[in-house]
Amino acid sequence: MESKTFTKPARNATVIVGTQFGDEGKGKLVDYLSEKYDIVVRYQGGANAGHTICFDNKSVVLHLIPSGIFNEGCVCVIGNGVVIDPVALLAEIKKVEELGYDVKGRLFISHNAHLIMPYHKRLDSLHEDAQGDQKIGTTGRGIGPSYEDKFARKGIRVVDLLNPHVLQEKLRENLAAKNKLFRSIYEKEEFDVEEMVREHFEFDKIIDPYITNTQLYLNRQLKAGKTVLLEGAQGCLLDVDHGTYPYVTSSNPTSGGACTGSGIAPNYVGKVIGVVKAYMTRVGNGAFPSELFDETGERLGRIGHEFGATTGRKRRCGWIDLVALRYSLTLNGVTEIALTKLDVLDTFEEVNVCTAYMLDGREINDFPTDHETLSRVKPVYKTLKGWLSSNAHARTFEEMHQDARNYVSFLEDALEVPVTFVSVGPGREETVFR
Ligand code: GDP
Ligand code: IMO
Ligand code: MG
Repeated sequence: MESKTFTKPARNATVIVGTQFGDEGKGKLVDYLSEKYDIVVRYQGGANAGHTICFDNKSVVLHLIPSGIFNEGCVCVIGNGVVIDPVALLAEIKKVEELGYDVKGRLFISHNAHLIMPYHKRLDSLHEDAQGDQKIGTTGRGIGPSYEDKFARKGIRVVDLLNPHVLQEKLRENLAAKNKLFRSIYEKEEFDVEEMVREHFEFDKIIDPYITNTQLYLNRQLKAGKTVLLEGAQGCLLDVDHGTYPYVTSSNPTSGGACTGSGIAPNYVGKVIGVVKAYMTRVGNGAFPSELFDETGERLGRIGHEFGATTGRKRRCGWIDLVALRYSLTLNGVTEIALTKLDVLDTFEEVNVCTAYMLDGREINDFPTDHETLSRVKPVYKTLKGWLSSNAHARTFEEMHQDARNYVSFLEDALEVPVTFVSVGPGREETVFR
């Protein structure tokens, strides 16, 4: 029988994933790597993300547009898994254009992405207020309520903007239900349907040229040999399935979410780069076993400028947690680590690493997935020698101080994954690449 040959998919897609509670420095890494990739895709979350990029003496925070936008050879895609606040998107397009970068012809938005409507943002804050002490501490960007509507099959999608009748009908149905809630439960004023329809027609006129079937586009580009970087938002420990539920976001930042949130077939994914901050931070509520409540925690926050890039809230700080990281690297299938903010530890004589937890008098090594248990564990630390020197000018591993290299090697051995990038400052060039 005649034998046929079929081409195997090239593994040209790389996932960048946050391994902790978000804010690991994903934006910096994606910007740095985007020079080597044809396309960058955001696959989940929305404007709750704040990804900072520092270049040419500027510091820019992106919330929705992928962090490849400042590399002009790079196409940027907002995938189907993202929830898009039109107001935030338009403001961001304007911001990027004002910086002198073209967005038209370089930014594409999935038909299937869901929209964040003004009532989602209001519901986000009303839900939080109603929770009192138990509140999640969301970013207030309407993320949870928008994903709720998506999974309840009531959501309004980008594609609906293209059909005025469908949009009008869907908005009417949604607002009828939401207005009833605002009126009778929350005693708030109602949203005006006609006004919202008008506003969204205006929005449609602007974003029309960006809308496309990005799922097919991406798979075809990959088949043609193009390279794709998938930019996660948030982090594994905030994942709705795998994080510290219920103190999580409403999407899947983990690498599995990269395929569902972009439509890219899993067999195109070759590498998964886990972004690991050299210590830990968390914004909002929820268990954080290695959190520091003392001057050391304050010092980490001060040196690391740990304030939320989206809300400006102070981030809680603590030592790096290997129990959480082993869990995160396993679930994400991390093939290499990008270690960030190593410079923040430069002035510490000693650096602690949480290697295990104590729970009810026993040592445990696995990350408990229920929040009640996690909030009772106590960290077990190993103390390493600090390096007390700056590595800001190092570009190769060999140029780094021996004790800093020892810290990196210790993490590699404990996590059994190679560290291929070390970020030694916020700037694009302040990167050690192995
Ligand atoms: P993301 O959400 O993961 O993209 O991270 P954020 O942008 O929210 O937070 C990371 C912060 O640390 C930003 O202010 C970055 O400019 C900054 N940053 C990134 N890498 C480094 C680094 O290696 N050293 C220092 N000092 N700052 C960094
Ligand atoms: P990037 O992409 C850090 C946190 C919020 C809150 C919880 C739920 O910049 O790493 P949400 O508004 O999503 O419903 O809030 O998740 N959170 C983040 N924390 N970095 C982020 O994004 C975050 N996005 C959401 O603080 O605890
Ligand atoms: Mg951030």
